[in-house]
Amino acid sequence: MQAVQFTAHGGRDVIEYGEFPDPEIDRDEALVDVKAGALNHLDVWTRRGLPGLDLPFPHVPGSDMAGVVREVGDDVTRVSPGDRVALLAGVAGGDDESDGAAAFPRRDDPTLSPGFHIIGEDTRGVHSEYAAVPASNLVPVPDHVPWEVAGSVSLVFQTAWRMLIHRADLRAGERVLVHGASGGVGHAAVQIADYAGCEVYATASSEAKLEHAADCGADHGINYETDDFARSIYELTDGRGVDVVVDHVGEATYEGSLKCLRKGGRFVTCGATTGPNPDAALNRIFVHQLEIIGSTMATPEQAEEVLELVWDGVFEPRIRETLPMSETARAHELIENREGFGKVVVIPDSEL
Ligand SMILES: NC(=O)c1ccc[n+]([C@@H]2O[C@H](COP(=O)([O-])OP(=O)(O)OC[C@H]3O[C@@H](n4cnc5c(N)ncnc54)[C@H](OP(=O)(O)O)[C@@H]3O)[C@@H](O)[C@H]2O)c1
Repeated sequence: MQAVQFTAHGGRDVIEYGEFPDPEIDRDEALVDVKAGALNHLDVWTRRGLPGLDLPFPHVPGSDMAGVVREVGDDVTRVSPGDRVALLAGVAGGDDESDGAAAFPRRDDPTLSPGFHIIGEDTRGVHSEYAAVPASNLVPVPDHVPWEVAGSVSLVFQTAWRMLIHRADLRAGERVLVHGASGGVGHAAVQIADYAGCEVYATASSEAKLEHAADCGADHGINYETDDFARSIYELTDGRGVDVVVDHVGEATYEGSLKCLRKGGRFVTCGATTGPNPDAALNRIFVHQLEIIGSTMATPEQAEEVLELVWDGVFEPRIRETLPMSETARAHELIENREGFGKVVVIPDSEL
């Protein structure tokens, strides 16, 4: 089959699209005929290499895809050949007895299991013509949902849903600041905060991106390239601050984010695109009694909650560009250069 792959970490030039051995399925797996996938910032981190990430090469990247089940393993009852499905990329891990994590499984919340990992980051991904994945990681996709939608929403919408609804415990009427509203997580968070009945303040680097953010439900847009966003929040809220900040940007926004919070406010983070080591500012945290909340991916139940809302049309991914998988290097360029708004979709060349 044809697959996106790389044989070393590095720049965009390591990305290739070419022949890769056809995947074989285990008893608990399904083989999916991939119709569409999408890039996440994670694909950039994985390509560049991360501390502790020791991948067998060649590595096939990709954590989001949707397609049609072609074949299932002997133990699979959850899906059948012909089913339309999308991937939930989080895997609890720890099933292997030789793995120390097996001693501490968290069946109630797999994201807290010591062996939790993400398909495409820690194991072979799904940006290929076919993908063999655990059947328990597949969710049904109704017939009316286009492949570009089904293949692009899972990772970022489940992440934003858990962050806002289950971790930050968002309440109607609260003020929420969402950074990086043009990104995958950001544009999902804007939609979810708006749906939850909140007053949404969004930051982005251009007026065009802020217009898209308004279309997603942002009530106020702040261009962080031209304005000090903490000052803007102070003015827009008459000095009261926001209840919740959604931050996946990290070092570049952390200090300002804390300044934006009212006393007792919540800072919720799932990422650190600009770096993971900001000045901790403990004095502001204890004086203002702030809560710092981490969040990663979602449980299967939480993911299915938000995907049902996508299938029902309540939430809608914005698509920056749709490219053949052979142009995955361009997809990385769009993300790294912060060009456009929303998700970058990739489709196997044979499907075009
Ligand atoms: N823990 C988890 O489960 C999880 C899940 C998903 C994502 N993440 C992490 O969350 C981050 C976002 O992921 P994504 O896929 O949504 O990425 P993305 O689509 O590439 O979006 C990144 C966003 O960050 C903004 N940004 C970049 N540099 C900035 C700066 N200096 N100041 C302000 N904003 C800046 C960009 O805004 P502009 O376009 O306005 O410049 C862009 O919208 C990544 O670090 C990713 O690894 C973690």
